[in-house]
Amino acid sequence: MQVWLLIPVLVLSPDKAHMQIVNYPDNLCHERVRAWVNEMGALCQPDRVYWCDGSEQEYDALCAQLVRSGTFIKLNEEKRPNSYLALSDPTDVARVEDRTFICSLRRNEAGPTNNWVAPHEMRATLRRLFDGCMRGRTMYVIPFSMGPLGSPIAQIGIQLTDSPYVVVNMKIMTRMGKKVWDVLGEDGFFVPCMHSVGMPLAPGQEDVPWPCNRDVKYIVHFPEERSIWSYGSGYGGNALLGKKCLALRIASVIARDEGWLAEHMLILGVESPDGEKTYVTGAFPSACGKTNFAMLIPPPAFKGWKVTTVGDDIAWLKPGADGRLYAINPEAGYFGVAPGTSAETNPNAMATISRNTIFTNVALTPDGDVWWEGMTPTPPPELMDWQGNHWTPDCGRKAAHPNARFTAPAHQNPAIDPEWENPNGVPIEAIIFGGRRSRVMPLVVQATSWNFGVYLAATMGSETTAAAAGQVGVVRRDPFAMLPFCGYHMGSYFNHWLNIGRSIGRPPRIFGVNWFRTDEQGNYLWPGFGENMRVLKWIVEKSRGKARSVEGPLGYMPHYEDMDWTGLEHFTREQFNALMAVDRREWIQEVLSHEELFLKLYDRLPKEMIFLRELLLSALWRSPEKWDLAPERV
Ligand code: OXD
Ligand code: MN
Repeated sequence: MQVWLLIPVLVLSPDKAHMQIVNYPDNLCHERVRAWVNEMGALCQPDRVYWCDGSEQEYDALCAQLVRSGTFIKLNEEKRPNSYLALSDPTDVARVEDRTFICSLRRNEAGPTNNWVAPHEMRATLRRLFDGCMRGRTMYVIPFSMGPLGSPIAQIGIQLTDSPYVVVNMKIMTRMGKKVWDVLGEDGFFVPCMHSVGMPLAPGQEDVPWPCNRDVKYIVHFPEERSIWSYGSGYGGNALLGKKCLALRIASVIARDEGWLAEHMLILGVESPDGEKTYVTGAFPSACGKTNFAMLIPPPAFKGWKVTTVGDDIAWLKPGADGRLYAINPEAGYFGVAPGTSAETNPNAMATISRNTIFTNVALTPDGDVWWEGMTPTPPPELMDWQGNHWTPDCGRKAAHPNARFTAPAHQNPAIDPEWENPNGVPIEAIIFGGRRSRVMPLVVQATSWNFGVYLAATMGSETTAAAAGQVGVVRRDPFAMLPFCGYHMGSYFNHWLNIGRSIGRPPRIFGVNWFRTDEQGNYLWPGFGENMRVLKWIVEKSRGKARSVEGPLGYMPHYEDMDWTGLEHFTREQFNALMAVDRREWIQEVLSHEELFLKLYDRLPKEMIFLRELLLSALWRSPEKWDLAPERV
């Protein structure tokens, strides 16, 4: 679709007279890019326009500038080479879902799970906010590719921002720089991404280390126009617009229109001892250990098994000529949650962030290194906390913000998959959906068909943890882990998934997992994250037709003897069966609460969902009240 016709609504007459242009690229021959940058410059009125080339020298110079301005603290070169710490404004620490908008032409296109404002109204608001918003600052032009440069699956974006912190993060998270102009040529498609921290400087006004707008924030998507406008925040997904805004919200709309999938999924490779490679994707809501799963190290007993990472957060899946789905990771780095990451929980992540890393909102040790809760069993005796205050273990405050992050290049991951930059993607055999459920959901189940898999994913949910606002233990439906990231009506999104299943010859098998089931006392039934390889091995072998299962009311499930318990022989059949039990009464409640979601999406809910629910109910009805795996396979 040609969407540029809609853009001139925000066009102003170019007025570059007072603006300094720096590092203008000699290989840019795209007239619309030039015109758009001029127009946005005239609107935002920065002092300077700097065209980023993506070079190492540029990165180093910007980091040095950020150190001088007080945004960055350079970490100890011996302990953490070429790495920096940024401490944000205390009001700008996470994505702001209540300030995130999908401004489709029609309200119902965005659906009931997205915030919506009429595009003309939102444009008027943005025009007012962006008018002069970069005064006293530099506007950086960031050309970037989501996905390997030139890949048929990749998408080009151009972000304009007044935040040098954003520039250096984008350098790690995307393929950023001059080469993008060659890929774009004279008329290539790009997603325009406008960003401002929303804090213009009056002449002589001193800047602050973390400029942002404490009162006004807008993260806005125009799906028909394929454009993004973000105002007021410098943090994470609000500001690094290639990630959630482009690679999920806008890409999900492009994917719907073009017949592919843009998903909130990790991608990993599993290599068996005989060298067979299987690629798997997995969708998990936040706080379910997605990065840890993407970087899993098999237990010692699993000799010869290897897990490799293609991506930890986003997957774009396209149908291939052979009927399979092929996935790429559109990102080039990890923007991971630091707290809880340690040599115990994720040695690969710790190795990845050992150098060339930007840390945000973690604590600083007296010798110039970083620390966060869970990094070591015993905290250091003193620190500087994420707000710059002196910290001791007994002070009653957290040293790092719970949403503190690291930004690190993916190629530094020791377990990076050799195919992670293959422009054609990797073939996917299995898709895993998981949530955090203390009851109801078994450890692992395979959906009996693509459509049942879609039902399972559409109704997945997670229990709120203490970290989340509101009550603890309440199930929040998060279909496909996409609730905050789908750029259109969730009911239409389910339909798109059903369509994809109909159109591909060799669809991946779909599985549900739940590592978080507990007993009556609240103790976890599954012995821990390190053991997830056992489930992954069954999934991989099952999707290749090499593992056995029984058919339960929810789908195919492994018997105790279908799983590999080498090295975990003390884990009993009874313990396993408790993890796998399906309680009919609990499931009736569960299905009733699916109904709540379905009613919300009623006007666009595919009718298949209703029939699938009926089939699920009938399977539950004909199974015993408490369906259990038989004591032994017969
Ligand atoms: C993320 C998220 O930061 O999902 O990846 O919130
Ligand atoms: Mn994510």
